[in-house]
Amino acid sequence: MEDIVGLCKRRGFIFASSEIYGGYNGFYDYGPLGVELRNNIKQAWWRDFVHRRDDIEGLDSSIIMHPKIWKASGHVDGFSDPLVDCKESKKRYRADQLFFAPVILDGEQVGYVAFVEGTDSASIIKRAKKVRDHLDKKQATLDEAALGNDRTEFTEATAEQRAQTLGPDASKVDTLTAPREFKLMFETKVGPLADDSAVAYLRPETAQGIFANYKNIVDTGRVKIPFGIAQIGKAFRNEITPRNFIFRSREFEQMEIEYFIAPEADWQALHREWLDTCIDWLVSIGLPREDITEDVHPTEKLAFYSQATTDLMFHFPHGEQELWGIACRSDYDLKQHQTHSGKSMEIFDEASKSKYVPHVIEPSLGVDRTLLAVLTAAYCEDEVPNDKGQVEKRTVMKFSPKIAPVKAAIFPLLKNKPELVDVAEKLYKKLQRRWNVFYDASGAIGRRYRRQDEIGTPFGITIDFDTIEKDGTVTLRDRDTCEQRRVTEAELIEFLEEQIDG
Ligand code: GAP
Repeated sequence: MEDIVGLCKRRGFIFASSEIYGGYNGFYDYGPLGVELRNNIKQAWWRDFVHRRDDIEGLDSSIIMHPKIWKASGHVDGFSDPLVDCKESKKRYRADQLFFAPVILDGEQVGYVAFVEGTDSASIIKRAKKVRDHLDKKQATLDEAALGNDRTEFTEATAEQRAQTLGPDASKVDTLTAPREFKLMFETKVGPLADDSAVAYLRPETAQGIFANYKNIVDTGRVKIPFGIAQIGKAFRNEITPRNFIFRSREFEQMEIEYFIAPEADWQALHREWLDTCIDWLVSIGLPREDITEDVHPTEKLAFYSQATTDLMFHFPHGEQELWGIACRSDYDLKQHQTHSGKSMEIFDEASKSKYVPHVIEPSLGVDRTLLAVLTAAYCEDEVPNDKGQVEKRTVMKFSPKIAPVKAAIFPLLKNKPELVDVAEKLYKKLQRRWNVFYDASGAIGRRYRRQDEIGTPFGITIDFDTIEKDGTVTLRDRDTCEQRRVTEAELIEFLEEQIDG
């Protein structure tokens, strides 16, 4: 993760928000390359799920909506996380991401250590030794296996266990409070009144904007069951512990689809179909299939309205974590809005000649999390020969050409030869009309290749003396294999079209 964060800052992908004021926890800014990568991910998603499908329509709803929407959806009363405070360090933890394990010395249990999800075993053992040192039992044997095997979520800790627990950032035991519910929605006030009637919320998901507009889209008469509504947009959550770079932030973007189906449809089969479609899409933007797994939520942990939820997990640098949630939400949301708004959410199904409130399958994906997955999959350090044939280390981002921020770099072999520069500039201008390409004339050609490798530009195009003196062909270099071949301009354009837009 450190390498990825370092590269993102150095090359202008991602910066901490408000960095000149020391940063602002949970918020990030996307620099010139980051915004390109981000836009390319969103465009690929929109193209594949909206433009290239006949059964899905697009939507862009407002971020701040009528507060009754959040009452109906259950967010006002229920959208919270269990929070634990440390009275000593003043740090806050999500209780469902905090674990505790027994400290056993010479076979006797003497207390507990708490640690956040993803903490490595060596750090947990170090904390347990701190408990041992406090007890003045430096010579006692610590049961290290129990620390690894016997861990429990802090939501389940009893008052007695809490009193004996050393918190992750505390120097003594009994500093962690009992978990309490912490509301995740950001509040704001709309209009000149300062009383409670002005309270509104920044949306914590884009989904409710879809449910709130479902009737409008049905009434335009273009859709018939089954059909989907897709939306890309910002969402805001006052996360207790934003962390792991852009993985969990307080302002992020979602790409969500609500896919409406008949109540009697085979939702299990459709759920499976959606899971496969989503996996295929992740692979199409360059994530390795072997790094994607499925986490089926156990029935007893499902929300009361959910029939099934499976998360697509990705192997992030900080472990295997949720990337894409694919939930079967029954008719819960539409029925809630029907009750609260008094407007019918029924649809007339021509095929079955019946009226009903449809059920829904919801594939919900974070843009920022996808971007982190893409960065993780692309980051690579390898060795390649330099201009002199010596093997050199390089950092290379192996982005798929479909989403790479810069698609190709155009280089005149020498910058002081106007005849090379002229041809290179003309080609650059031509390609620039279709794609985000880069022109670089300065420095040794090997160094120019390395600079592009580090930002993941898939193709290098060099204009040399053969171009101007012989057949007009250019050298096309592949970022990953470093192989070079000569192509005509027509072949080059056909190749780029296939690789980038195909
Ligand atoms: N409408 C359903 C919904 O919002 P979710 O599991 O809370 O479900 C869906 O969020 C997706 O949004 C997640 O799988 C993740 O990709 C992304 N996401 C959620 N919270 C996030 C956060 N704090 N920071 C970045 N991405 C987040």
